[in-house]
Amino acid sequence: MKDADILLEWRNDPETRKASHNTAEVQRNDHISWLSRTLGNPDRRLYVAEENGDPVGTVRADFSDGVWELSWTVSPRARGRGVAKRMVAVLANEISDPIRAEVKTGNISSARIAEHAGMVFERETDGVLHYMRAALG
Ligand SMILES: CC(C)(COP(=O)(O)OP(=O)(O)OC[C@H]1O[C@@H](n2cnc3c(N)ncnc32)[C@H](O)[C@@H]1OP(=O)(O)O)[C@@H](O)C(=O)NCCC(=O)NCCS
Repeated sequence: MKDADILLEWRNDPETRKASHNTAEVQRNDHISWLSRTLGNPDRRLYVAEENGDPVGTVRADFSDGVWELSWTVSPRARGRGVAKRMVAVLANEISDPIRAEVKTGNISSARIAEHAGMVFERETDGVLHYMRAALG
């Protein structure tokens, strides 16, 4: 919960909104109730990546039908220096179940991030690229 404000700031950053399925600005009270539901949801894990103790990004993992769907955001102040590639790959390597990700067409950085984490492009539907990686081991 101590990360609530930084997560909301990143969520409402214009680039993050553009990359999200829901592009609307999120209000603080809605964010707080979303975060408290998230923290109590056994099928959802929310990670904050830190560099020297400073929060630089977040990855969410949602479990459904045997697959973890990953989504990610990097702090606008920490972009363009490999944070997303590293944090998503670290989490992907910790998950032995299959993983997937949805990336909007044109989000070239995130397509590279998904591939770097071992996911492969499967198909495109309605402007969304679907990436998938089978179970490890
Ligand atoms: C997309 C986002 C996560 C990238 O984070 P980042 O830490 O800057 O990414 P990285 O530095 O790890 O770079 C990832 C790849 O994208 C490329 N890249 C980075 N910035 C880029 C830019 N402005 N234009 C084109 N490519 C870019 C990098 O070169 C790298 O690929 P490469 O190493 O194969 O060359 C970040 O910009 C962000 O949070 N955006 C808003 C939210 C979002 O898009 N979330 C993803 C939804 S699926």
